Amino acid sequence: LKVGVLVSGGGTNLQAILDAIDCGKITNAEVSLVISNNPKAYALERAKNHNIEAVCISPKQFENREEFHRALLAKLKESGVELIVLAGFLVAIPPMIVEAYPNKIINIHPSLIPSFCGVGYYGLHVHEKALERGVRVTGATVHFVDTGTDTGPIILQKAVKIKSDDTPEVLQRRVMEKAEWKILPKAINLIANDKVKVVDGRVETEEFDT
Ligand code: GRF
Repeated sequence: LKVGVLVSGGGTNLQAILDAIDCGKITNAEVSLVISNNPKAYALERAKNHNIEAVCISPKQFENREEFHRALLAKLKESGVELIVLAGFLVAIPPMIVEAYPNKIINIHPSLIPSFCGVGYYGLHVHEKALERGVRVTGATVHFVDTGTDTGPIILQKAVKIKSDDTPEVLQRRVMEKAEWKILPKAINLIANDKVKVVDGRVETEEFDT
């Protein structure tokens, strides 16, 4: 399975995927392309260090959003990408791309969807809101991307306990380490080995447990 990973930041989720491939936790998949909208994303360095094509495709390089979307889709198709993984990618995926990749785009979100998700819930804001609400458990979700925001069928989730002295930064790190970096590679492996299907908008997979 040819995987294209879209990133915007540090790339720790990308790194988790590359490490899982290297140690055999993910089989039948390779990351053949990494695209960032941010030229300074360290995730691009991580890709280059792994001899993976790493390109910056940013809205700023184009006359308008439409041209940016076309360029993004063209690059993905040209590279033969079969599964798109959004790993900390902060740009909305337009219907044009969602339709070109039906149930072939997945996203990692740092909460237990449907809590703390949707427009405006990204990065640290997600953890700030969880702490503000005083929830005792949060976590991460891998889901298929549809034309909504964080609304597609859920593939895997993993819970993380909140501690009384957590700050947003400490909580974010724990959610990444204990949840994101585990369930994103696992979801890719399930898909690469045909263990996931969507029926009536819900994911069927024998491996719910993470
Ligand atoms: C983090 O906020 C993470 O929770 C979310 O994307 C952001 C950056 O992750 N999934 P990464 O280190 O760039 O993978």
